Amino acid sequence: MDAALEKDHGGSETAEEGGSRKRRGSMYLEEEIGRKSEVISCIFSLNEEVGALAKALRLFEEKGINLTHIESRPSRTNTGQYEFFINVDTSCSQALDEVIDSLRTEISGHVHELSRNKEKDTVPWFPNDIQDLDRFANQILSYGSELDSDHPGFTDQVYRLRRKEFADIAYNYRHGQPIPRVEYTEDEKATWGKVFRELKTLYPTHACREHNRVFPLLEKYCGYKEDNIPQLEDVSRFLQSCTGFRLRPVAGLLSSRDFLAGLAFRVFHSTQYIRHSSRPTYTPEPDVCHELLGHVPLFADSSFAQFSQEIGLASLGAPDEYIEKLATVYWFTVEFGLCNQGSEIRAFGAGLLSSFGELQYCLTDKPKILPFDPDKTCLQKYPITEYQPVYFVADSFENAKEKVRKFAATIPKPFSVRYNPYTQSVEVLDDTKQLTNLADCISSEMGKLCEALRKLQ
Ligand SMILES: [Fe+2]
Repeated sequence: MDAALEKDHGGSETAEEGGSRKRRGSMYLEEEIGRKSEVISCIFSLNEEVGALAKALRLFEEKGINLTHIESRPSRTNTGQYEFFINVDTSCSQALDEVIDSLRTEISGHVHELSRNKEKDTVPWFPNDIQDLDRFANQILSYGSELDSDHPGFTDQVYRLRRKEFADIAYNYRHGQPIPRVEYTEDEKATWGKVFRELKTLYPTHACREHNRVFPLLEKYCGYKEDNIPQLEDVSRFLQSCTGFRLRPVAGLLSSRDFLAGLAFRVFHSTQYIRHSSRPTYTPEPDVCHELLGHVPLFADSSFAQFSQEIGLASLGAPDEYIEKLATVYWFTVEFGLCNQGSEIRAFGAGLLSSFGELQYCLTDKPKILPFDPDKTCLQKYPITEYQPVYFVADSFENAKEKVRKFAATIPKPFSVRYNPYTQSVEVLDDTKQLTNLADCISSEMGKLCEALRKLQ
């Protein structure tokens, strides 16, 4: 029956057919918005015992629901159980809610609705595995060589060709490959040099201590210096050795949903090109100066790495309005965050640490400073082409992470997720097998903790 069931739902596990996409390793399907389903499909599981199916079918009969199709197969996740795939016609929608409730409470415990014209039942697709991030290359909102008419490099044909080279590298990149090395031109290195020299003078007094702790290591191990633009591959390897974070070249603008999903896997999508040489202190979009000077140092800090991953995990499968809220939280922390350090306020946001002007401005008394609170921060409006009128201050990355975790718990999702670093995949915690695995892992870690504490005493 397995093959027949697969066929009904669009072929192999990674195929995208018939208007629905199946998430590998899970039973949730995404439906195309606006698609009209003529049937409602769902799967429920029953223990293998005499009369179990008859009891379940009676629930449908009592509500007058007409089953138009039924198939069975042994459960893939719970041994000793059978799964039943059924179709009913859409006129039974309301009564089906009641039957599903009864199946959950009286008989089975496992019911998955697969297709239904109700928005609340659809879960947006999200990557399960780090290799799934390869799909994003085909989903960019614009190619990195397309420049707006007010871009400093708009009329510079040489610059535009160069941008296309970088976009092509990223477009063809696949997970697991080394990031191609780039021979930067003298002109590009001169632009980097100006930015690097100026910002470095401000870091001791304006950057957070985590940034200042990591920066010398980047100079020592990754070629951070005035006359050299570091290679993404070297920086990515360094980050992996510190926190498991890695860089991945990006060909153009990603949607917030895709960009945040990368963070769940400790992957940061990074540009590789540099701003136009005519305006070294200005860039209308992220460039390699912004990524390497602003973002990279913080991703080498374990607390910040955890905080960033927390935002990413919260985004997986979240409804669109919550993606917007999480993107705003990301904006006011990872991009423009301030933090308390002793009696001072310092900058940790990459948009600040890569802008000579705004890094000075953010610590003056001109902008409004508010405490970081995801419930309020997520609603704050912001400009993208001028200095921020409002900044949020976090007490610490640990504290900010806990707040984001609490905020994430308010996002309506039918499941919880956990990142498994051994398999570099996201586990959906919606069945007893996954929960048992998690309990085993925690138990083993607790054992190690107790043993280490005993040895210390
Ligand atoms: Fe950024």
